[in-house]
Amino acid sequence: MDKLKITGNGPLEGEITISGAKNAALPILCASLLTADTLRLTNVPQLKDVMTTQKLLQGMGMRVMTDNVHEFELTGASVDKLVAPYELVKTMRASILVLGPMLARFGEAKVSLPGGCAIGARPVEQHIKGMQAMGAEITIEHGYIHARAKRLKGARIVTDMVTVTGTENLLMAAVLAEGTSTIENAAREPEVVDLAECLIKMGAKISGHGTDTITVEGVERLYGAEHRVMPDRIETGTFLCAVMAAKGKVVLRNTRANILDSVLDKLREAGAYIEAGDGWIAIEMRQRPKAVSLRTEPYPAFPTDMQAQFMAMNALASGTGIISETIFENRFMHVSELARMGADIRIDSHTAVVTGVERLSGANVMATDLRASASLVIAALAAEGDTIVDRIYHLDRGYEHIEQKLGGVGALIERIQ
Ligand code: EPU
Repeated sequence: MDKLKITGNGPLEGEITISGAKNAALPILCASLLTADTLRLTNVPQLKDVMTTQKLLQGMGMRVMTDNVHEFELTGASVDKLVAPYELVKTMRASILVLGPMLARFGEAKVSLPGGCAIGARPVEQHIKGMQAMGAEITIEHGYIHARAKRLKGARIVTDMVTVTGTENLLMAAVLAEGTSTIENAAREPEVVDLAECLIKMGAKISGHGTDTITVEGVERLYGAEHRVMPDRIETGTFLCAVMAAKGKVVLRNTRANILDSVLDKLREAGAYIEAGDGWIAIEMRQRPKAVSLRTEPYPAFPTDMQAQFMAMNALASGTGIISETIFENRFMHVSELARMGADIRIDSHTAVVTGVERLSGANVMATDLRASASLVIAALAAEGDTIVDRIYHLDRGYEHIEQKLGGVGALIERIQ
């Protein structure tokens, strides 16, 4: 199993190019199921989760051509196996995103129930409830969701909580339904907007994406299109936090500041000097950061996917920061690993009280999930001595060539067997 060896060594200087967003690429790849024509995608990140999605779609009969690792052509003319098997779903929960498009285009789908994961129970009853409201007959047997509908019918759906993949699944179901659907309490995440924009290019009639009410007028069929996946705001935020911890000056390219407002505000509060222009963000940090308090909430508030990285920054900051996690019930797994590096963090239910220390020290630590792994990398870049991060397959699910990107700005980081 691969590990990362990181030696804390002072400031990061240079430029990093940000990849396409994992959480936009995954639903958009699944949107290819909605048409028999070819969907051409560019700026697809080269990640384990993208490879898993490719395998899932190919297993259903999707023809996938790749010009290079970042460009995909998906043709759904011969899709005929309407199953997402347990073996793939258990490795990637986002596989649930094939349910909506399969049901909408073929009137049938069989998808393994994802089950819980390291950060929480993560049920999918909102996806199911929404599709039932559109007229689907759904049964759960032997761990699989079986969904059937002659043609889905437009419906008014109000989700009980803001759910990102739930909104995406229902949006993909509604685009081919008969009549008009509204999804209320919809997720406003930029990745939902990117999916909606791709669907509109394919011929879907959608309005209100980016607000909490999305309206979809169902159409008979969708067509081929070309779409460039949006930049990864969480990868961007992760590298910004790396500079906060290790210091230095880095320019991030191929990204956008307007999808990161809450994160940039908190970084400025912590003392960063940040500038941004068309397609770039520059950060300069020369002093010890000031601890910040934050609370994770659905977009546009502070993202849960940046909580662990801010925890690593706070661990080294001056003062005390209070971090409340409101989205997932078990997303503090990085705390005990950061403590092994000398961090002072107390957890009380969904709140972590982080009192910054002058120095962290390198240690052997274990990655437990994707963003927890990123927080350990950030801590390691600023720690004294060597850190070995074990189980980095979590990182490979969501960060493209992280060791090359950080190595390019001067970090001492290598992948070891
Ligand atoms: N929830 C339910 N029932 C549902 C759906 C959601 O109770 O039917 C709960 C969840 O258990 C959670 C909350 O609602 O407590 C929000 O979950 P959401 O459905 O929004 O999460 P998700 O769609 O499964 C996506 C991202 C996550 C990100 C969350 C929150 C993808 C592929 N995944 O997950 O990304 O943390 O939204 O923003 O888009 C990551 O990239 O590291 C990651 C975990």
